[in-house]
Amino acid sequence: NIKACLFDLDGVIVNTAKYHYLAWKRLANELGFEFSEEDNERLKGVSRMESLEILLEIGNKEVDENTKLKLAEKKNGWYREYITKMDESEILPGVKDFIKTLKENGIKVAIGSSSKNTMTILESINMVNEFEAIIDGNKISKAKPDPEVFLLGAEALDIKPEECVVFEDATAGVEAAKRGGMYAIGVGSPDILKEADKVIPNLENVSIDILNFE
Ligand code: BG6
Ligand code: MG
Repeated sequence: NIKACLFDLDGVIVNTAKYHYLAWKRLANELGFEFSEEDNERLKGVSRMESLEILLEIGNKEVDENTKLKLAEKKNGWYREYITKMDESEILPGVKDFIKTLKENGIKVAIGSSSKNTMTILESINMVNEFEAIIDGNKISKAKPDPEVFLLGAEALDIKPEECVVFEDATAGVEAAKRGGMYAIGVGSPDILKEADKVIPNLENVSIDILNFE
């Protein structure tokens, strides 16, 4: 019996995944290598510094710790230029209606995101007050695929993990949900989100029945 839904932010509530990609691609190009959308799948859900490590590995670049911090800061600066310009029109199709349906059915809703920019994004799209709990990259010590972010979300809502469903667009996020003992609904392509209990293309026209797993 499902009592709570935990939503990933980037790529599920809002299409910031494309801005992350553009900013990482710009950094890769500046460092002299190409960075494809396929490469980008590996960065989804993963923390900023871990994403940078993967990017540098793809480009075969070795840099010192200080340079890493500067590169991450640079990427974040470009990324923030995009997200501070966003507004409600960038909320993904179906999100608002689905959250409304959940609330009408007594289901609690929370955000579980690895991003330290979560509050900036929620403010830009005017959704801060839609969630009963917001666990973001500033509140966790281990990013996805570690389950910490979702376990803290369940705890904040006072709901058991097995009564939670996570909505995720990243393989790292689906893994985090499953490791946390929760149901995972992949939002995106079934080819990529293989470990999810169910996969939907987006939240458009999703009915409350999606929460039935028996
Ligand atoms: C996740 C994104 O939500 O947040 C990742 O899927 C991103 O791509 C991570 O790296 C960290 O984000 P930020 O905003 O703290 O750099
Ligand atoms: Mg995501």
